[in-house]
Amino acid sequence: LVDLRVGNRLDLDTVIDVYVDSTLGERRPVDDRRRMGAMLANANLVVSAWDGDEMVGIARSISDFAFATYLSDLAVRRAYQGQGIGRRLIDRTQREGGAAKIVLLAAPASVGYYPHVGLERHDSAWLLPPGRRLETDG
Ligand SMILES: CC(C)(COP(=O)(O)OP(=O)(O)OC[C@H]1O[C@@H](n2cnc3c(N)ncnc32)[C@H](O)[C@@H]1OP(=O)(O)O)[C@@H](O)C(=O)NCCC(=O)NCCS
Repeated sequence: LVDLRVGNRLDLDTVIDVYVDSTLGERRPVDDRRRMGAMLANANLVVSAWDGDEMVGIARSISDFAFATYLSDLAVRRAYQGQGIGRRLIDRTQREGGAAKIVLLAAPASVGYYPHVGLERHDSAWLLPPGRRLETDG
């Protein structure tokens, strides 16, 4: 039986291990411990899933708890995938965010997942990667 906890006071190495084991680690800076530490410390809405004392999943978000929750990372350990844990992590993230809408970008491995669990596609999401300069008219 897997239970959920809210809060970011989690062991960083365990969190990194969940990212790696889920495969999301391929797309996150898991080898940069300082950056991962900042990602965890500065996230203000983190839901984790636990099988006893083993962390088996995580949803890491930034929320204003009023309008928008950015769900940056959703990861479930491989051995625990397909049991509804991802769905529960999103559901709890939504509840904790109050009236905020959840916004996220799907990793390639999960593009089919989000429509399957009921998220709505948005065809006008826009990114500005770090270091990319804005276009100017000068
Ligand atoms: C994507 C992920 C978080 C889903 O978590 P999960 O606990 O395995 O998913 P759930 O058990 O809640 O799945 C619910 C449903 O979605 C389906 N599903 C799961 N992964 C899917 C996928 N990649 N594509 C399509 N459908 C998927 C399940 O079969 C299940 O269907 P059902 O309810 O009809 O039986 C998890 O598989 C994962 O960590 N993947 C790798 C990391 C990743 O890509 N994360 C997303 C980053 S944005």
